[in-house]
Amino acid sequence: MSKLILGIETSCDDTSVALVARDGTVAAIKTVSQYDIHEAFGGVYPELASRAHLQAILPTIQSVMEEASTTPSDLEAIAVTRGPGLIGSLLVGLSTAEALSMGWGVPAYGINHLRGHIRSAALEGGITEFPAVIMLASGGHTLIAYLENEWSYRLLGTTRDDSVGECYDKVARTLGLGMPGGPAIDRAAERGTPVLRLPRPMKNEAYEFSFSGLKSSVARHVETHPEVSVDDMSASFVAACMDVLAAKAERALRECAPKSLVIVGGVAASAQLRDTMGALADRYGVTLSLPPVKWATDNAAMIAMAAWDYVERGVQPDLMPKPNLSLETP
Ligand code: KG4
Ligand code: ZN
Repeated sequence: MSKLILGIETSCDDTSVALVARDGTVAAIKTVSQYDIHEAFGGVYPELASRAHLQAILPTIQSVMEEASTTPSDLEAIAVTRGPGLIGSLLVGLSTAEALSMGWGVPAYGINHLRGHIRSAALEGGITEFPAVIMLASGGHTLIAYLENEWSYRLLGTTRDDSVGECYDKVARTLGLGMPGGPAIDRAAERGTPVLRLPRPMKNEAYEFSFSGLKSSVARHVETHPEVSVDDMSASFVAACMDVLAAKAERALRECAPKSLVIVGGVAASAQLRDTMGALADRYGVTLSLPPVKWATDNAAMIAMAAWDYVERGVQPDLMPKPNLSLETP
């Protein structure tokens, strides 16, 4: 049996554990959602998130190890998210990984969650050709970067305010679509027509993003255009987001001339984003690299996948929590 990495992800509101082989095969994965706990608060309540992680983490690890009939001797390493994320949530994963590492005699690697998202595109046989331009569009981050290879990252730009996923979630709340907002907006937009021309903030300004103005604009339009249906409002909002994201990606394809375009993060589960970026990649003759839809959102398989790069390089990042870890830090 080939060796596996045990991945642990507890940076936000999902307790996820996975076993992943070097080639990206996921031997087992289990993700325990805290959706029911946070729904009433309209967002993640950090204190409750850490408590829920604490309750879920050991049974989840046990269940994944049993499902894949894995013992500690089958493990090459333990990989755990060390940041960015909520400090209390990160600490649960990190402390668990440290204890298991000592008990089992298996090395533990503290993994950058953002690198996990980027390597999610390599799960289940996905291939990323380098150099690559990557766009990470999640609830916590919106950024675009140039990757010479798995190791050298150059940040091109990020958001000045809200992330695109956060904007989806807040607009969903304004439209009464509830949580999680992204998939709900995605579905409503598929049914609707973009009848309103909403603003495209910072569309023509290099690689920086700004989404809070777009969010406020939707709230204003809901007041001033009550005749527009939720589906059409969602479609108008998604059209504005796609336009901005595509403009930034296109600029990077023109200026960096990569071999592939990699789109990752929770919003990469959106059918519209996948289609928009697919068309762009075709136009520029580059390959499009996407994670399987089910692993676009936070999960432990991507953390284990990223850890394989570190294992090969002989780099072992420590287990100190880093709530504000940036993309450029390993
Ligand atoms: O990557 P992720 O799971 O967590 C962070 O690291 O932030 O991303 C979560 C975000 C949420 O804002 C959620 O609304 C969005 O991804 N999302 C989607 C879809 N599925 C999740 N956005 C648009 N369409 C989707 N299908
Ligand atoms: Zn994430």
